[in-house]
Amino acid sequence: MIKFNDLKKVNQPFEIEFKKSFNSFLQSGWYIKGKQTSNFEKDFAAYCGTQYCLGVGNGLDALKIIFKGYLALGRLQIGDEILVPANTYIATILAITETGLSPILIEPDSATFNINPALVQQHISPKTKGILAVHLYGQLANMETLQQMAKEHKLLLLEDAAQAHGAMNNSGQKAGNLSNAAGFSFYPSKNLGALGDGGAITTNDDKLYQIIKKIANYGSEKKDVNTLKGINSRLDEIQAAFLSVKLKSLEGDNDKRRAIAAHYLTSIKNPKLLLPKFSGGKDHVFHIFTILTEERDNLKKYLLDNGIESMIHYPTPPHKQQAFQEWNTLNFPITEQIHKQTLSIPLNPILETFEIEKIINTLNRY
Ligand SMILES: Cc1ncc(COP(=O)(O)O)c(C=O)c1O
Repeated sequence: MIKFNDLKKVNQPFEIEFKKSFNSFLQSGWYIKGKQTSNFEKDFAAYCGTQYCLGVGNGLDALKIIFKGYLALGRLQIGDEILVPANTYIATILAITETGLSPILIEPDSATFNINPALVQQHISPKTKGILAVHLYGQLANMETLQQMAKEHKLLLLEDAAQAHGAMNNSGQKAGNLSNAAGFSFYPSKNLGALGDGGAITTNDDKLYQIIKKIANYGSEKKDVNTLKGINSRLDEIQAAFLSVKLKSLEGDNDKRRAIAAHYLTSIKNPKLLLPKFSGGKDHVFHIFTILTEERDNLKKYLLDNGIESMIHYPTPPHKQQAFQEWNTLNFPITEQIHKQTLSIPLNPILETFEIEKIINTLNRY
C-alpha cells in the first residue's frame, strides 16, 4: 500500500538528530520559552525574510493571535469584515469568527483554487477592514494584486501560510513576508511539520510583534505583570528543537515536491482527470497535489483497490458544515464543485521512484 503520507518514514532521516536534541532538551531542565524556541524563531524569521517570528501553539492560534493583536492595537474593531476564500480549511474561518470579526466568503479562481482578486474587489465595502488570503495546497495566492487593493483601500492584508512554508514569488519573497502578518501551522503532516502541534506568526510590523508576544503569554511580558487579557499559546521547546532540525531540509524537500509534481503533470495523461496548473516556478510548494474528476468517489475507491491511498481536501466546505448552520443555504458554486471533485494523491519527499511510477500508471489506466 502506498500511504498518502507516511509520517514515520518522513521523520526517519532526522531520528539521530532528534534524539540528540531530545537529550539536550531533557538535560536543560527548561521546557517552555527557552533557547530552543528563540533560536527557532530567529531562524524561521530569517528563512521567511521577516523581521519577526513568534512561536505559538498551533496554526489556528497563530491566525487568532494576529487578529487579537490588531484588535488590541485598534486597527480592527469587533464586527469588522474580513474577506476570506470560501474554499479553505475551516480553521481559517474560525480564526475570524472566534475573534469577533465577520468573515465574508469569496469564491476562488477555478484554475488556482486561490481567492479570486476580481471578486475581492467587488466585495470591498466601508465595513471591510482586512483580507485573509490562503496559500491553498502550497501555492501563493495572487498577492501582488491583493497588496495593491489593500493599499488602495487601507485594508490589512494577512496570510494563512499553514500549507505554504517556503513558497516564493518571482522577486524572491517568501510566504509569510507578503502581507502585514502571516500564520503558519507545524501540524505533523505539513511541509515543515513538528512531532505534535505547533505554529508561528511572522511579521515586519513592530507594534504587532510587541503586542502578540504578550497576548500569547497571558497578556504578560514581565512575570506577574498582566497588561492585557491574553491567552496561553506557546511553541514548546521540544517542538522548536525538532523544527530547527527539520528546517535545514525544507528547501530540499520543497524542491523534491516540485520535481514530483512536474513529473506527475507531464506523465499523467487521462482525459477524465483535470490536473492542477503549475508555472514551474517556486510559488508552489505542493503541500497537496489535487486532481479534479467528476467521478471522484469512484476514483478514490479504484486507487485504494490498487494499493494507493488518497485523501480529500476537503469533503465539505465551511459554509456547508453544521458548525456554520447560518450559512448552509448560501451558494458558492465554484467552491462546492471543487469540494465535490477534488482528490489529493500522494506527493511527499519520501516517495520512491517505483511508487511515483505506480501512481502515474494506475491513474493512466483508470
Ligand atoms: C489552511 C489552514 N489553515 C489553518 C490550519 C490550522 O493549523 P493547525 O492545525 O496547526 O491549528 C491548517 C491546518 O490544519 C490549514 O491547512
